[in-house]
Amino acid sequence: MTQRPQGVVTRGTTNPNRLRRVDNWIVATCGDRLRTAADPLVVDLGYGATPVTAVELRARLAAGVRADVRLVGLEIDPARVAAAAPAADPPRLTFARGGFELAGLRPALVRAFNVLRQYDERDVAAAWRTMTAALAPGGLLVEGTCDELGRLGGWVLLDADGPHSLTLAARLGTLDTPATLAERLPKALIHRNVPGERVHDLIRALDNGWRAAAPYAPFGPRQRWTRTVAGLREAGWPLLDRPRRWRLGELTVPWSAVAPR
Ligand SMILES: C[S@@+](CC[C@H](N)C(=O)[O-])C[C@H]1O[C@@H](n2cnc3c(N)ncnc32)[C@H](O)[C@@H]1O
Repeated sequence: MTQRPQGVVTRGTTNPNRLRRVDNWIVATCGDRLRTAADPLVVDLGYGATPVTAVELRARLAAGVRADVRLVGLEIDPARVAAAAPAADPPRLTFARGGFELAGLRPALVRAFNVLRQYDERDVAAAWRTMTAALAPGGLLVEGTCDELGRLGGWVLLDADGPHSLTLAARLGTLDTPATLAERLPKALIHRNVPGERVHDLIRALDNGWRAAAPYAPFGPRQRWTRTVAGLREAGWPLLDRPRRWRLGELTVPWSAVAPR
C-alpha cells in the first residue's frame, strides 16, 4: 500500500544554479558514501516549481562521483510532478510524488533544500526523523536553506543517528558581513540567533573575526574569510573542515557546537 505523502505544499520558488554551493559540497564531502553505496539512489526532496536544481544535482553527481547515480525528484505538489515530466531521463532521472516519508524509496543520499523553511520550527525534528528513517544503511540527509541566487546558505548533515554538522557558505565576492548568514540558517537554527544560543555565539564570532580581519581585505575576500575562520579555530571553535574548504567561503562545525539549548 502506498503511504500518503507527508508534509504540505509550499511556495515553489527555485532558480538555476541556486544550489551549486551545497551540490559542490555534497560531491566533495558525501561522495565517498555514494561511491560505496550498493544502490547509488539519490532523492531531491521538494524540487519546486521547475526541476532545474534536480537536473543539476544529477549532472554534478554523475560527473563528480559516479556515472550510474540515479536521482528521483520528489514533490508533494502533483502539479509540479506533472510539470517536471518532460525533464525526466529514465532510469537516471525521474520525478514522482512524495513527502518526508520519501515515497517508499531507500536512498543513499537525500537533499532537501528550502523545504523546511516554510514549516514551523517545531515540525523540524519529526521531519528529520521521518527522512533519516527512510535512508538506506549508512545514508545521509543534507537539509538546509539558501537565498534566491545561492549566495548565502546553511545546511545540516544528518544520518540515522541524527544531526552531525552545520555548514555555512557564502559567495565571498558579494559578502558584506557574515552576520547576513543568520538570515539563511536552516530552520532548526534560524530562530535561535539570539543571545544565549550557541549559533548566535558562532555568528557573532564570525562577524567580529571578519571585522578584525579587515587588514586582509586588500588581498581579497577569500584571504579575509580564511583569516576569519582561522581566528575562530584559534579561539577554540571545533571546526570540521580544512582551509581548502574555507577558501570556498565555507565553514563546518559539529552540530553539538550550535545545537539549540
Ligand atoms: C521553495 S521550493 C524549493 C525548491 C528547490 N529545492 C530549491 O531549493 O530551489 C520548496 C518546495 O518543497 C515542496 N515541499 C514542501 N514540503 C514538502 C514535503 N514534505 N515533501 C516534498 N516536497 C515538499 C513544495 O511543494 C515546494 O515546491
